[in-house]
Amino acid sequence: MSPAVFTINLFLLLGAFWSFLQIRAISRRKSLGRSPPGPPALPIIGNLHKLGRLPHRSLHALARKYGPIMSIKLGSVPVVVVSSPPAAELFLRTHDNVFASRPKTQAAEYLYYGTKGMGFTEYGPYWRSVRKLCTSELLSVAKVESYAGMRREEVGAMLRSLKAAAAAGEAVDVDRKVEELVEDMTCRMVFGRKCDERFDLKGVIREDIALAGAFNVADFVPLLAPLDLQGLTRRVKKASKVNDEILERIMDEHKQDAIANQRQHRALIDVLLSLAKKSSTNPDECSLSIDRTNAKAIVLDIILGSFDTSSTAISWIMSELLRHPRVMKKLQKELDRVVGQDRVVEETDLTNLKYLEMVIKESLRLHPVAPLLVPRESMEDIDIMLGEDCYFIPKKSRIIVNSWALGRDPEAWLENIEEFLPERFIDREVNLRGHHFELLPFGSGRRICPGMRSGLMTIQLVVAQLVHCFDWALPDGILPEKLDMSEKFGLSLPRAEHLVAIPSYRLSN
Ligand code: HEM
Repeated sequence: MSPAVFTINLFLLLGAFWSFLQIRAISRRKSLGRSPPGPPALPIIGNLHKLGRLPHRSLHALARKYGPIMSIKLGSVPVVVVSSPPAAELFLRTHDNVFASRPKTQAAEYLYYGTKGMGFTEYGPYWRSVRKLCTSELLSVAKVESYAGMRREEVGAMLRSLKAAAAAGEAVDVDRKVEELVEDMTCRMVFGRKCDERFDLKGVIREDIALAGAFNVADFVPLLAPLDLQGLTRRVKKASKVNDEILERIMDEHKQDAIANQRQHRALIDVLLSLAKKSSTNPDECSLSIDRTNAKAIVLDIILGSFDTSSTAISWIMSELLRHPRVMKKLQKELDRVVGQDRVVEETDLTNLKYLEMVIKESLRLHPVAPLLVPRESMEDIDIMLGEDCYFIPKKSRIIVNSWALGRDPEAWLENIEEFLPERFIDREVNLRGHHFELLPFGSGRRICPGMRSGLMTIQLVVAQLVHCFDWALPDGILPEKLDMSEKFGLSLPRAEHLVAIPSYRLSN
């Protein structure tokens, strides 16, 4: 064969091989769909500049233009933003198996020992086992109920300090009081005692929360990661070292304590330590093999999950009640009817407080604590059908579900959407367990919040007590409708400014 014929044959062969690869790629993809619509992206930063200070609001505005399944680019990361209840159902129920993973972030890698916890861990056998352990042993109905005495003590202590402020006619920082209460309750649940003053545990965890919720450019523009422009890499490395030192010391103390007292399973950390011990001595008997590092990551996950979520929800509920004296009075009337005026609310009263339930739902609709839930990641290429439209979502896309937008969906909520109106739930069968996609404060599907029961119990009990025991007024003659309701975006969405109000005791004892 002449060299010329050989070259032509070689080109033909390569051409045929290339065509084969293309056809195979297309037939493998078998996609009918197009990419979801979205705003044009800039080089390098993509649409990062469109997020603004309050990304849930900016994304809601963009979705109005581009639709309920919208694609954007954050740096080099393809992101799909989901903004209507039917679209959320497709991602979180119909195709939950494809979207049940989490993207890796720098903060999660450092804080959770290479994602050995639960919340930021990718979907797979390890996550499934940790989740099972948490739902069956650490956050089960029985476990949550077993902390009733602790909750009564802690809420009782807060009420006494508020009663003293009421007697002195002082204004109190309601948010600070509730934050401290929830932080101490969390520490008692996890460590068996209040937050450790020796290590400024509260301050350390607040820094963790700030880092986990910070928008880190390094996660989206890997090119810029080595420059650490926001200083977050330095901070997160320092925080993970401090966390580790504290957790090691606390674990050592618990181990000694368990040996000295022959007692186990007192707090969540004891359950995890005894499991780690069992894993090392009898690995065959354990369905989940964990060591101290796993135990530390799981402890941090539970602390970070509970530390500011319930307090943020309570803060918004109290703010809405102060802004709506009619609703406050109606709730007090319900509490007086069910509980009376000569004793305080008990956990057993909560199931009879139907209006309280509506107040909580309405506040979570308008102020979801996690307005963009926790991001998901797709595990394979998939076509999604929404009505007549078919969209192709490639593997490894980041999925953001805008829960804040779901609570404002015009087709689901019809009228007075921005108004705080608990009565809208009177004839509406909507629960908070992730079945009704217009109200998803705890998410839905495989990744739904495992601490929902514990979080809701805290919210119901604390709001019921605050409203039953006290009348509340705004300081400095601020009119209810003038109360500032600005938000601050982070891992959760708290008020920008703390809520300050004056209590006056209203019970007869
Ligand atoms: C008002 C209280 C709370 C709210 C609004 C809330 C909200 C959420 C949301 C929206 C998610 C993401 C769900 C999804 O991706 O679909 C989540 C996940 C999670 N929450 Fe909560 N949460 C609360 C309380 C708690 C508490 C008290 C704990 C622990 C005791 C907790 C632990 C977690 C964990 C570990 C995850 C990750 C689950 C996983 O990825 O498998 N949360 N939470």
